[in-house]
Amino acid sequence: DKGNHRHFMEKEIHEQPEVVSHALAHYVDLGNHTVDPAATGLIDFSSLRGLAISACGTAYLSGLIGKYWFERYARLPVEIDVASEFRYREIPLSADQAALFISQSGETADTLASLRYCREAGLKIGAVVNVKESTIARESDAIFPILAGPEIGVASTKAFTCQLTVLASLAIAAGRARGTISEAEEKQLIKSLAEMPRLMNAVLNTIEPQIEALARELSRYKDVLYLGRGTSYPLAMEGALKLKEISYIHAEGYAAGELKHGPIALIDENMPVIVIAPHDRFFEKTVSNMQEVAARGGKIIFVTDEKGAAASKLPTMATITLPNVAEIVSPMIYSLPIQLLAYHTAVFMGTDVDQPRNLAKSVTVE
Ligand code: F6R
Repeated sequence: DKGNHRHFMEKEIHEQPEVVSHALAHYVDLGNHTVDPAATGLIDFSSLRGLAISACGTAYLSGLIGKYWFERYARLPVEIDVASEFRYREIPLSADQAALFISQSGETADTLASLRYCREAGLKIGAVVNVKESTIARESDAIFPILAGPEIGVASTKAFTCQLTVLASLAIAAGRARGTISEAEEKQLIKSLAEMPRLMNAVLNTIEPQIEALARELSRYKDVLYLGRGTSYPLAMEGALKLKEISYIHAEGYAAGELKHGPIALIDENMPVIVIAPHDRFFEKTVSNMQEVAARGGKIIFVTDEKGAAASKLPTMATITLPNVAEIVSPMIYSLPIQLLAYHTAVFMGTDVDQPRNLAKSVTVE
């Protein structure tokens, strides 16, 4: 049932404040601002030498953001790859590592094959899944449900932000278990995560008219480039994936710093560049990349916050201004304009948003 929404994808985008709050409530104690040991302690992070993460598509991109968090907060080295490569790479693995497999459906063939490969190598296996009765869940030692509720739209939206919520909680738990973050830091991070539902609602209630107008314009282009740094880099790739799969506009996501190593040759007035740049410790660097785009006549769609919008004087095709948010929640909050822009562009193009051509919700072939 789509309720009063035109598509499941639209409904699922708007469900995010509610579902991320369910996911969060499962993994953290919102009264004391601590992680919940029962939910997060199914893997003993304290003595791990490393963590392997594998997944496909959007789930892989949530894992890539998770890597930044596990390395930063838990000082835990993360080996991550798309499942179709991971399983064939002959990665040296050992029983003092654990592995996480991220999958909405829990049935993705390559992800399951990577899981079996890691089990063979003696790793403790965790499944970050939406479907708790799935094969990937059944073959795991520990199940970390993302609690997104059924996701019907083929393009993953609420599963992505719920995966991020779970990974952020696990990274904080791992940081506490390993003594790499203090109790005070844990409280601060969880207080920031607790702000997510309110911030998501605020964003969803304000940006849609601007995004719709922008989507009408974007639907006239054939190629779009997304740039970001830090956790905004996987988000740039997620933005490009979402746009290409439902609107069929060619899009690429790049690390902002890679611009001058190739893609800058493509910059002209025919390829809008979407720059994802919260006012964080990477902001100045990203703005200097944006400058390089502007200097070559590139059209910029600047996705930033109030501080960022005030700090940059560069001309843009549009500036989407979000509230100032803590670094750990920015991937979840910035997912919203990214998803809505892809959604409304596809609606303007008249494509089958919930069931894009050639795609299936669950990919059970390798
Ligand atoms: C993109 C998308 C796909 C899936 C991928 C993995 O919007 O939906 O890229 O993320 O096929 O699927 P799961 O998470 O079910 O393993």
